[in-house]
Amino acid sequence: MKKERVLSGMQSSGKMHLGNLVGALKNWVDLQDKYDCFYFVADWHSLTTGYADPSSIRESTNDLLINFVAAGLDPDKSTIFIQSMVPQHAELHLLLSMITPLGWLERVPTYKEKQENLENRDLSMYGFLGYPVLMTSDILIYRAQHVPVGIDQMPHLEISREIARRFNFLYKEEVFPDPEGLLTKFPKVPGLDGRKMSKSYDNAIYLSDTPEVVDQKIRTMMTDPARKRRTDKGDPELSPVFHLHKIFSSPEEIVEVAEGCRTAGIGCIDCKRVLIKNLFTYLEPIWARRAELIDNPKLVRDIAYKGSEKASHAAEETMETVRHCMGLR
Ligand code: TRP
Repeated sequence: MKKERVLSGMQSSGKMHLGNLVGALKNWVDLQDKYDCFYFVADWHSLTTGYADPSSIRESTNDLLINFVAAGLDPDKSTIFIQSMVPQHAELHLLLSMITPLGWLERVPTYKEKQENLENRDLSMYGFLGYPVLMTSDILIYRAQHVPVGIDQMPHLEISREIARRFNFLYKEEVFPDPEGLLTKFPKVPGLDGRKMSKSYDNAIYLSDTPEVVDQKIRTMMTDPARKRRTDKGDPELSPVFHLHKIFSSPEEIVEVAEGCRTAGIGCIDCKRVLIKNLFTYLEPIWARRAELIDNPKLVRDIAYKGSEKASHAAEETMETVRHCMGLR
């Protein structure tokens, strides 16, 4: 039986952090055996907000690819590629823009939100409004049924379904299946200051951080503010360190540090030492593979080229039908 298709992408705007790894990439890795997976670096998407300074996109794209493979995406199982290396996405974006009502795009909650939040950038651009159409093209061009994304991307997927239905309706053919969001059940990864880990909060642990930097970041990480002295009792739930324990430590260790915190049986440094040990165990294989890949740019290039060629082949199949439906060629 043919495996169902999964597709997901990540924007190449900045370095990847632990939140991206635990919240998204690890999940992609887990889906590889069950589905026919397509995973890509959305470099065009990063231009929708970063068009004025593209200087870091190339490097970010390369770093993301390295992280994909280092975290366990296997080019023999999944199709790993770069969006701009499969120009059919742009062709489909253009064609879908012909049938997408403006009102649908203006109503997407992230449209207004981002425009307001990123106030140092002028986002009154055509490309930014069309962001969900581009994302829709990424998904529909592979006729993917499942799209693993975070909750913030759900409104975009809603648009993708609407555009897919509108296309099928207008051209009287079931070309596109309805793409479903595959919500990941991972816990929110707290950053060093207790807020959600994000590069814009400057509270992240990056995959490119050296062990020394990770060690330093955890040592100075926020804990329960009630524990000013070693003898003060604390509430583990109020400490972001404990929330990281819940992700990276064993059940026994989690019980131990929680108990130690409540009774002041252990200090915050002791608690952090356990976390650092477990985080290192988790990250060490990824660090090792990152180092190998950084030393072997040819290998990374080959993965990107081969994957993009495979993706292009699959995309072309869909495009032939789409062109036909829309009176072209
Ligand atoms: N918009 C997504 C994000 O910022 C990235 C993305 C682009 C994507 N195209 C996609 C995700 C297609 C899933 C499917 O995270």
